[in-house]
Amino acid sequence: MKIHVLTLFPGMIEDALRWSVIGRAVQEGRLSIHAADIREYSLDKHKKVDDYPYGGGAGMLMQAQPVFNAWESVTGGKRVRTVYLTPQGRPFTQALAEELSGEEELVLLCGHYEGIDQRVLEEVVTDYVSIGDYVLTGGELPAMVMIDAVARLIPGVLGNEDSAEEESFYNDLLEYPQYSRPEIWHGRSVPPILLSGDHRRITQWRLEQSERLTAVNRPDLYEKYQRKQELIGLLLKDKRNYIHMIEGLRRGRAEILCWEGEEILLYDRRCRLCMISASSAERGERLLSLAPEETESFVVSQAFFMEMLCGGEAYEVHSECRQLLYTQRVPLPVKHKDIRKLTSAHLDYVSGHYDYDGRDYVEARIREGVMYGAFVEDRLVGFIGMHNEGSLGLLYVEEAYRRQGIAVSLEAYAINRILEKGWTPYGHVIVGNQVSFALQEKLGLYRSDRSVWWLEKK
Ligand code: ADE
Repeated sequence: MKIHVLTLFPGMIEDALRWSVIGRAVQEGRLSIHAADIREYSLDKHKKVDDYPYGGGAGMLMQAQPVFNAWESVTGGKRVRTVYLTPQGRPFTQALAEELSGEEELVLLCGHYEGIDQRVLEEVVTDYVSIGDYVLTGGELPAMVMIDAVARLIPGVLGNEDSAEEESFYNDLLEYPQYSRPEIWHGRSVPPILLSGDHRRITQWRLEQSERLTAVNRPDLYEKYQRKQELIGLLLKDKRNYIHMIEGLRRGRAEILCWEGEEILLYDRRCRLCMISASSAERGERLLSLAPEETESFVVSQAFFMEMLCGGEAYEVHSECRQLLYTQRVPLPVKHKDIRKLTSAHLDYVSGHYDYDGRDYVEARIREGVMYGAFVEDRLVGFIGMHNEGSLGLLYVEEAYRRQGIAVSLEAYAINRILEKGWTPYGHVIVGNQVSFALQEKLGLYRSDRSVWWLEKK
């Protein structure tokens, strides 16, 4: 990801982001941070960048010209996502950090003095963002806060892949208390359950602690969490048909945009994916009006949505699928022994044999660490992975190695990785693909009795 910061104080950004996790990510080339000095773009002979506001009032304003020229020089005039840091913006949240972490390029515009001439903001800014209800002297600290929160979500930036998932704000809960050695410090003991070795009870204890802390410290978040749990409870009554929504909510990926009785609209911000279900076309129409404009894909649970969405120019039907889910808790046996997590070294092989979603998509899955390959005598002969929204897929085995149980092993292996996270493995199989249905059912997955349809932006 490439981040440009437009600022009057480039040194502030460069100095602060050289360190620790972000500094390492820059050195490893996972992220580039470039600070452009707005003053250098001033056409004034004294390099002046500010002037008095028309209509009077305290202080000075940053002028449009230097800001625009700085922006144009880093973007080449392209419509790059451009965030203006301002106390007047919408609040910066973990959800927005996740959304921005999916961008290839970002521009952060830092104001100073009393603000920036409105006209240039209207020309270049796509998002107005505040980091909190207080006023700072400039946008540099907020820009650094954003960079830190966004960068740590880029795959590979945090060493341990799990650590971005199990922490404050993941799934609307605050993180549980943690303890390290020694067992007794200042006469205070570590809670005995953490020494018990019983992982199921430890997970349960941590969840209870998270719930208690959130209820006390963040009643607003707790209310959101409870509502989500309530919706999951409802969806579980028809688990096989709504597993995509259940897992989206449970894994902290999907948020509820609307839920009124049977009308449900969820949004996975990272994939720009809407999941939608309604009891009638009329109600569906109203739900659709709440879907974000930037939605790239829909998974719809009723056929009537196809006419509504695909009638015009916007979306087209990609596939009709049945959902398959594995609801047992026990890991599956994996017969083929040489299965490994794939790395960027395998990108050419995978994208050469899987051409449905493009090379960038495959690259992102590998970077996320959710692609696994089967090797025979150290040669890659097949692979499987987890799609962006969390379903199992991207399965391929070379012709010469089929009918040897490799696909079954790959799928069992991927299922086990998902079980380890405490999730329910599920996949979408295109109606008519009997080979895939047979494979899934052989492994103990069972299928939904109704279809879902994937619709994609044209
Ligand atoms: N600039 C000044 N104060 C700010 C805030 N709270 N958030 C974002 N940008 C700012």
